[in-house]
Amino acid sequence: MAPEESAEAESLLPSFERRFLAARTLRSFPWQSLEEKLRDSSGPELLLNILQKTVKHPLCVKHPPSVKYARCFLSELIRKHEAVHTEPLDELYEALAEVLMAEEPTQCHRSYLLPSGDSVTLSESTAIISHGTTGLVTWDAALYLAEWAIENPAAFAHRTVLELGSGAGLTGLAICKTCCPSTYVFSDCHSCVLEQLRGNILLNGLSLEPDTTAPERHPGHNAHDAESPRVTVAQLDWDVVTAPELATFRPDVIIAADVLYCPETVVSLVRVLQRLSACLKDQQAPDAYIAFTVRSPETCWLFTSELVLSGSPLLQYGAAHPQKPHGPYSGGPPGNAARFSGGIP
Ligand SMILES: C[S@@+](CC[C@H](N)C(=O)[O-])C[C@H]1O[C@@H](n2cnc3c(N)ncnc32)[C@H](O)[C@@H]1O
Repeated sequence: MAPEESAEAESLLPSFERRFLAARTLRSFPWQSLEEKLRDSSGPELLLNILQKTVKHPLCVKHPPSVKYARCFLSELIRKHEAVHTEPLDELYEALAEVLMAEEPTQCHRSYLLPSGDSVTLSESTAIISHGTTGLVTWDAALYLAEWAIENPAAFAHRTVLELGSGAGLTGLAICKTCCPSTYVFSDCHSCVLEQLRGNILLNGLSLEPDTTAPERHPGHNAHDAESPRVTVAQLDWDVVTAPELATFRPDVIIAADVLYCPETVVSLVRVLQRLSACLKDQQAPDAYIAFTVRSPETCWLFTSELVLSGSPLLQYGAAHPQKPHGPYSGGPPGNAARFSGGIP
């Protein structure tokens, strides 16, 4: 490969690497650029490098993605190769044969590369909905909120963060690894989600505090490494949690991603936000950042109107993040906008 060819090809590699490890939709890959580069190149180096950055990547080998995803990806890669070159490339067919022989387990992995060079790896369900919950997979709003947090670490640094409806844990793990919160409380209502979440926290090298409901009851806990946040997982169901229970969390920041997916949950979620906003800490109400995919304008409208009715004025609605996400994982289909609300006084 000529030097200029190799420089151009290099910009394709991180793009394939990041998208493949996070199992982003195949449509979001730069296939067109790949095809153009394949036409201009004579040797197999580019495709071999793509293999190394995707199915043969050490993260992928250790924590494999869904078999179906790897199969579809390799089939597409082979199609691109065959469209341009007549000589078959054995390594591609060998990699495909390997995944064709593999069984699809019920759990798979996604890894997200952080700008710090670190990564977040999650074990997730291969089914979008399983065990009666949507919380066993990562949703786009979680990714957008993680990207926003990484760009705005000061919103979380040295603060107590409470996350509602954490699901698989992507946003919280990205914040814990890059934004230096003092305490991070993951929460959810579903027992399978909580079990998977605890596993994902440990998988990412964080330790879990034993007390899952009230981190601030143990301010003198001195076995803790001051560099990393205190991390707890709480079972918190918006439908049943009481005001005194919520008061024990005393968050500086509340976050939630993709929790506005049906009108039924909105009323109880707003009640929780309202109760938390009444818990002043050092005379300050917590900030709140809610990211959501706009699936139904009615549900968004219900959320904002319920917030207003609850007496919790919603500030900066949609101001913290425009419609178009701009992080390295961006590129979802139109309509997958994330919106943020900030500061519930
Ligand atoms: C669509 S998932 C989003 C998960 C994660 N935040 C993400 O964006 O990937 C919605 C999450 O809200 C949780 N949830 C739904 N109703 C809840 C409730 N009443 N109390 C607490 N969590 C709830 C579900 O268990 C699930 O984990």
